[in-house]
Amino acid sequence: MTLAREHARPALGVNVDHVATIRQARGTRYPDPVAAAMVAELAGADQITVHLREDRRHIQERDVSVLREVVTTRLNLEMAMTDEMLGIALDQRPSMVTLVPERREERTTEGGLDVRKTSSSLERFSEALGSAGITCSAFVAPDLQVIEACAELGIPMIELHTGDYAHATGRDDDQERELHRLRAAAEHAQACGLTVAAGHGLDYRNVGALTTIPQIVEYNIGHAIVARAIMVGFDQAVREMLDALNPVPHRRH
Ligand code: PXP
Repeated sequence: MTLAREHARPALGVNVDHVATIRQARGTRYPDPVAAAMVAELAGADQITVHLREDRRHIQERDVSVLREVVTTRLNLEMAMTDEMLGIALDQRPSMVTLVPERREERTTEGGLDVRKTSSSLERFSEALGSAGITCSAFVAPDLQVIEACAELGIPMIELHTGDYAHATGRDDDQERELHRLRAAAEHAQACGLTVAAGHGLDYRNVGALTTIPQIVEYNIGHAIVARAIMVGFDQAVREMLDALNPVPHRRH
């Protein structure tokens, strides 16, 4: 099933991991990513995204289960393909799971899934999640063969890794080339019947050009929003990202 855009603008999934990063830095009870999620929803976010990492460096299981109770939009759980994580997902039943590669020493998710090497696990996870009514998405590089492999495995959705685009800020033509790759990947994914999301390294300046790719129906954005929230507040930071995604300014409500 291919989702059409529900709104004039693509959906915004606000990733609240780094609210938890600040909490974990001091072992306090604040700031609470759950409270941030509530503000994000009130500001107009369409989805709340969290990455429960194996090392629990930011989001904790408690956060996932409280979010599962209180989120009124959609909860997107990003996780590695381990049996422990599958158990948590089947127990918590978020709206969707985004499968990501994970290395303990990395600062953040550094690449897309190696779909060829992990195809049997991907198929197993997608089937198990799908049978529990949880949409399964795979975080992948904008590579046409990788996208075809996802479609062949029966995965309904992908999230395109926008890291290379986001980091290609040195020269305009590098960024133009990466934008072109993302556009070709999104078009191909839709032609293969996949729903297309995108994320990683996106900020208020670089996200606008991506919105010219109509096949991308959802963005998951975290670090830039949390960083701006420190300066202007969470509500304002989310609204400004909604504006950045929207050709028509997002009205305060
Ligand atoms: N999408 C995925 C699959 C991710 O792993 C991450 C980082 O946790 C993001 C989106 C958000 O990236 P950023 O924090 O750079 O906006």
